[in-house]
Amino acid sequence: CGIIACIGTDDAVGDLLTGLENLEYRGYDSAGVAVQNGSGIAVRKRSGQISDLGAAIAADTPTGQVGIGHTRWSTHGPPTDANAHPHTSQSGRVAVVHNGIIENYEALRARLREEGYTFRSDTDTEVVPHLVEHYLDRGLEVETAFERTLDDLEGSYAIALLVDGEDVVYAARQDSPLVLGLVDDDETGERRYYLASDVPAFLEFTDQVVYLEDGDVATVDRDGYHIRDREGGSVDRAPETVEWSPEETGKGEYEHFMRKEIDAQPEALRGTLAGRVDGDDVDLDTLPDGTFEEIDHVHLVACGTSYHAALAASRQLVRAGLPATAYRASEYHDLQPVDESTLVVAVTQSGETADTLSALRRAHEADARTVAVTNVVGSTVSREADDTLYIRAGPEIGVAATKTFTSQVVALSLLTHRVASDSAAATVREDAAEFLAALEALPEAVEDLLATTEARSVSDAHIGRDAHFFIGRDFEYPVALEGALKFKEITYEHAEGFASGELKHGPLALVTPETTLYALLTGDRGEETLKNAEEAKARGVNVVAVAPEGMAVGGVADEVLRVPDTHPDVVGLLANVQLQLVSYYTAHGLGRSIDKPRNLAKSVTVE
Ligand code: G6P
Repeated sequence: CGIIACIGTDDAVGDLLTGLENLEYRGYDSAGVAVQNGSGIAVRKRSGQISDLGAAIAADTPTGQVGIGHTRWSTHGPPTDANAHPHTSQSGRVAVVHNGIIENYEALRARLREEGYTFRSDTDTEVVPHLVEHYLDRGLEVETAFERTLDDLEGSYAIALLVDGEDVVYAARQDSPLVLGLVDDDETGERRYYLASDVPAFLEFTDQVVYLEDGDVATVDRDGYHIRDREGGSVDRAPETVEWSPEETGKGEYEHFMRKEIDAQPEALRGTLAGRVDGDDVDLDTLPDGTFEEIDHVHLVACGTSYHAALAASRQLVRAGLPATAYRASEYHDLQPVDESTLVVAVTQSGETADTLSALRRAHEADARTVAVTNVVGSTVSREADDTLYIRAGPEIGVAATKTFTSQVVALSLLTHRVASDSAAATVREDAAEFLAALEALPEAVEDLLATTEARSVSDAHIGRDAHFFIGRDFEYPVALEGALKFKEITYEHAEGFASGELKHGPLALVTPETTLYALLTGDRGEETLKNAEEAKARGVNVVAVAPEGMAVGGVADEVLRVPDTHPDVVGLLANVQLQLVSYYTAHGLGRSIDKPRNLAKSVTVE
C-alpha cells in the first residue's frame, strides 16, 4: 500500500496522480484520491490500475489544492471500488487513507454500528473516518477528535485525513512509515507540502524531508506544519536532504525498472563498497572496531530475497567460527535462546517489512544486540536497531529485488569481517586480503558479464518448459534459491531451488524431458554439482550450466552461461546476475508484468 498527500499545490489531483504512479512499485490492486473541492470533499476511487482511476478522474475532475491519495494492496476485503481508499465518514465530512492494520476494528465496528453508523466497505480502515466524525459530532476540535480516534486504535497505521472545509491534512504514524516532504522557499515565498509512505512518491517535487516517527501526530496546512506527540507536546524533527535523485527513481531509456536495476549493479556495488575496504581490513563508520566484542553467535532474520542474502552471510559467519543461523523472519519464534551475546542482524532492503520488524522487536525484548542491514535511510528498521549498516545501492523500484541482493551480500560480507575481527569466539579468514580484493573487483566483473549475450538465447531455448529447477551447493545454494525465486516471481512459471545433493532425495521424481535444470557450477563445490546435474541429465532433464570460464561441461550441459573467474566465495554473485538476466528475458518473452508481478508487493508491511 502507499499513501500520498499534498497541501498547497495548484493542482492537487495532478500531484496525487503523480505520487500514486511513483508508488505503483509497492504493489497495489486499487487506488483512489480525495480532494478539498471548495464545496465538499470529492472522492474518486477504483479497483484496478492507476490508469483506471485516471480515466474516472478525467471524466469528472475535482479541483483543489489539498488532497490525499492511496494505492491499496488488499488485506481486509477483496479489491473492489468500495474497499479502495479514501474512506469517508457517514456524512462525507471526513476522508481517510490508511496503511497498516487496525487490529481491533471488529470491536470498533460493533460499537459504531450500535451508534447508528453504517459501513460501506469490508476494510478495517473505515472505522477511522467514522470515529473522527463521532468525536466531531460531540463538539471536539478536529485535532482532539483525531487524537481521541488514535487512542481507540490498536495496531499499526500511517494515516492522512481530510476534514471538509479545512485546507489541512492531519496525519499520524504508528509502526507504518510516513514522511513529510517540504517545498519551503523563503525567497519566492513558495510553500507546498507532501506526505507519503516513502520518499520516491514525491521526490520529483522536493528532496527536503522530515521523517515522522512512531507516536507522531502532524497537522499540515499551506503555512507550515506542526508535529506533536501523543501527549500533545510539540516535537521538533529536523528536515533532512535525501540523496537519491529523481533520475535514479525514473526508468530512463529502459523498458523496465528491473532491467535498469540489473544494469545498475556495478554502480550499486561501488556505492556499497565506497570507503569501506582498507587492504585486509574493513572500515565501517557506523560499526567501529570493537563493536561486537561481546558477541558469540549470530542470528539473521529476513524475508524473500533478503533471506537468501542472509543465508549466504550465515555461511560466511560459520566459516569464521561463529555459530550463525539465518531465519525466515516469520519463523523466528522461540527457536533459540537469545541474550546479550546474540547478535541479531535484520536484513531488509526496504526496512519496512513487517515480519522482519517483528522478529527484530522480539530480539530486542530478549536483550540481543541488533544491527539493521538496509537500503533505505530513515526506514523503520534503521530507527529500531541498535546500529545500521546501509547497503547504499540506490533506490530499487522493480518489485523483484536484483541490485539490492548483490549489495546486501557484499555489505554482509563486510559485516562478517567486522564481527569476526571483534569477537573472541571468531577468527578472520586467512585470505581476507584476497577476499576483500575480489569484492572490490566485483563491480568491474559484473560489467564484463553484463556485456555478454548468452542469457537471452538460453531463455529462448527453454521458454515454456513445464518446470525450471535451480541447484547449487555451499554459497551457490542461496544463489539457487534466489534464481528460482526471481524466476517464479516474474515469469509465473513453476520454479524451485534445491541444494544439489537433495535432488536425488525427492525432486528427481519431478523431472521430465520438459524440465530445465540450471546447475550452478561456480565456487569450490561446482564439480560436485556437475555430478548431480549428470544424474538428472540421465533422467532426461535439459541442463543449463552456469559455469566458470574453462570448466569442461560438455556431455552434461545443453547450454552454458559463462561467468568470469574470481574468488570462489564471491563468484556466486556473478552466477546470480546470469540468472537474473534469464528470468528477465523469459518474463519478457512471456509478456509478463515484469516490474509489478501479479499479487506481489515490493514492501510487505503486514504480517
Ligand atoms: C517482498 C518483495 C521481495 C522482498 C521481500 C523482503 O516479498 O516482493 O522482493 O525480497 O518483500 O523485502 P525487504 O524490503 O525486507 O528486503
